[in-house]
Amino acid sequence: MTTRATIRGWGKCVPPVKLTNAHLEVLVDTSSEWIIERTGIEERGISHVETTDLAEVASHRALAAAGLEPTDIDMLIVATVTPEITCPSNACFLQERLGMVNAAAFDLNAACSGWVYGSATASSMIQAGVAEKVLLVGAEKLHWVMDYWDRNTCILFGDGAGAVVFEASDAGDGVLSTDLGADGRAGKTMVFPTLGTRGELTNQRDPAINRLHFEGQNVFKIAVKGMEASVRRALERADIAPDEVALVVPHQANERIIDAATRRLGIERERVMVNIATHGNSAAASIPMALNDAVEMGRISPGDLVVQTAFGGGVTWGSTVMRWGDRVTPLGHSDIELPPTDKTVFELLSGNREFFAPIH
Ligand SMILES: CC(C)(COP(=O)(O)OP(=O)(O)OC[C@H]1O[C@@H](n2cnc3c(N)ncnc32)[C@H](O)[C@@H]1OP(=O)(O)O)[C@@H](O)C(=O)NCCC(=O)NCCS
Repeated sequence: MTTRATIRGWGKCVPPVKLTNAHLEVLVDTSSEWIIERTGIEERGISHVETTDLAEVASHRALAAAGLEPTDIDMLIVATVTPEITCPSNACFLQERLGMVNAAAFDLNAACSGWVYGSATASSMIQAGVAEKVLLVGAEKLHWVMDYWDRNTCILFGDGAGAVVFEASDAGDGVLSTDLGADGRAGKTMVFPTLGTRGELTNQRDPAINRLHFEGQNVFKIAVKGMEASVRRALERADIAPDEVALVVPHQANERIIDAATRRLGIERERVMVNIATHGNSAAASIPMALNDAVEMGRISPGDLVVQTAFGGGVTWGSTVMRWGDRVTPLGHSDIELPPTDKTVFELLSGNREFFAPIH
């Protein structure tokens, strides 16, 4: 009998304020047609609250779906590249907020691959007997590091959070295999140097440095090849062929990257979950939000083979293959909501525009 980590609850939190392509046409020299054709994105959430607030809502929803109380959880992992501060971790902030007093708590940074690294970690902790019930959260407030004068980067990213509850199962369901990898030599293809100790103690936050930068076409190639190869390795380890997969839930970085990678795997569009149009790229939060939508849309059935795959800064990549359990409906619902805001998206981005204006 093999014990595996299986998903029993899921939830997400998307900020109510949207940055549409029409808004971006006002901010930078771009067009909605260009953005949709090159990325598939129509709008993204811009958060009026902190990363922990987004994580808290997604967590309550996932716990309710699993029919669990916060005190039932013994490990809390937050995958994020936009923690509020370095220490305490976002996971500890969230643990306090949720009253999750029986849980170990830590953050995990593998950039956009953070969710898959987190899934592998949660699964390993459960298989090793270190934990029985793990709450994994992906949460990002990416707009904070984005330069909304730079059309090359700012069109892609959105804020949000997603969460799942992993529980030990002996019923044959759960995470069957994982593949994780990294190549630090290609690290400069995606960088945002905030929150680090590099440099002088007295350094001011410099807008020329403290913003997200990537080499779009290089990342594109690394992503397509990296995700394809990673999924193949994970499937091989589980002795599963691509045509047995019911649904691939990829990191939502660019619709064309998703299409190219899954086409190379011979997995047609009907078996790929894509929600980038309304969410943008939300780094570690993108897969759990897509997974949540897939379950809610009825795209996952009991016993289905589901693949998660991602690539991201570092560079990093990873995939998991899992067999879904017997439940695709939530046991309960949480009525928690984010606090309302009357701010417009331009008001939410005004500080950002002011900070980065001098370098444009
Ligand atoms: C960024 C990305 C959408 C650009 O798409 P692309 O098809 O590769 O476009 P290119 O980089 O070849 O740029 C083509 C032209 O469009 C221009 N362009 C870039 N952004 C634009 C925008 N928002 N609107 C209009 N034109 C734009 C470029 O300046 C370039 O113009 P030039 O030829 O005059 O120099 C794409 O490379 C991508 O998604 N890369 C991955 C980035 C990523 O996801 N990073 C994080 C991963 S976790």
